[in-house]
Amino acid sequence: MLFETQRQAPLLFTFYVLLLIAFGAACSKPPPLTPETQFTQGKGLYEAYCASCHEIDPGIGPRLTKEVLATRLSATALFTYTRKNMPYEAGNTLQEDEYWAITAYLLVQHGFIENDVVLSSETADGLMLEE
Ligand code: HEC
Repeated sequence: MLFETQRQAPLLFTFYVLLLIAFGAACSKPPPLTPETQFTQGKGLYEAYCASCHEIDPGIGPRLTKEVLATRLSATALFTYTRKNMPYEAGNTLQEDEYWAITAYLLVQHGFIENDVVLSSETADGLMLEE
């Protein structure tokens, strides 16, 4: 019996090590959000969830030009509208940070802001969309 247990010990050890690695990977935090990573995330999400209606002529949705975006008046209003209503008839189906990333992408892409700030409810506060 003792012999059996000793033989299994390395196996058990390997199992524990693998378990620790898996646990560590699951707990490791994602890298901190930078303006660049938020923009890239927003671009990918926009292409996946929005462009099919907004980036073709004629599209199901209006072209999101600078003028059209400016009608939302503020970054917060654009975020709130988008989160509530978009994708069309599927509002609120993305995560809050994903809506912020899409909003950041649209604002940078159309020259409303420089890509030097991570957009959030705090940083968007008071940000008006002037053409
Ligand atoms: C299935 C097609 C469809 C998809 C996908 C879609 N939209 Fe729309 N979008 C529309 C339509 C249609 C309207 C016009 C809605 C209205 O006037 O009530 C609209 C309007 C908008 C407006 C307001 C434009 C204006 O005239 O002021 C914004 C901003 C917008 N969409 C952003 C987005 C974003 C961001 C996404 C991706 C998360 C998205 N949309 C996905 C169809 C779509």
